[in-house]
Amino acid sequence: MSIVAAALLAAGETHARAQTYRERGAYLVNAVAVCGNCHTPRDAAGKPIDGKELSGGREFDIAAGHIVGSNITPDRETGVGTWSLGQIVYALRNGKRPDGSTIGPPMPCACSPPWSSERHAFSTRDTCWDSPTSRTTIPS
Ligand code: HEC
Repeated sequence: MSIVAAALLAAGETHARAQTYRERGAYLVNAVAVCGNCHTPRDAAGKPIDGKELSGGREFDIAAGHIVGSNITPDRETGVGTWSLGQIVYALRNGKRPDGSTIGPPMPCACSPPWSSERHAFSTRDTCWDSPTSRTTIPS
């Protein structure tokens, strides 16, 4: 490779590409709010189960009581597949389901401040929507 080509390549790398909504959403969901910590089931070794992202079932005891992460994949029967995209954003920001009931603790969760930004809320919604549809009923 010529020196000029190498310099051009190096220069190109310093210009970060604009993030798409989905890249932004994946970052928020996986790195910032880590929705999967509560919403993605684990195998016996504690590793998130591939293909079951956000399908629910993780259980914890917290100060507010015993909690079980819901299935938030686009499955229409056991997930949030019948919620409109706007309803998912509303739920994230206000902690309410489309029927007006309050989503229990820890939702709207420690992660609510970033969701005051519309871009954050919408990109998160897109990432949930992209997760593999999983028909998993979570006992209440
Ligand atoms: C600390 C654990 C925790 C984290 C982190 C978390 N959740 Fe939850 N979430 C829960 C629990 C537990 C419930 C069920 C509450 C209930 O039963 O009322 C829930 C419920 C929900 C619901 C309502 C589902 C339904 O069918 O009623 C949605 C939507 C949701 N979470 C989305 C998210 C998203 C998106 C993120 C990441 C931005 C996230 N959650 C992060 C624990 C968590």
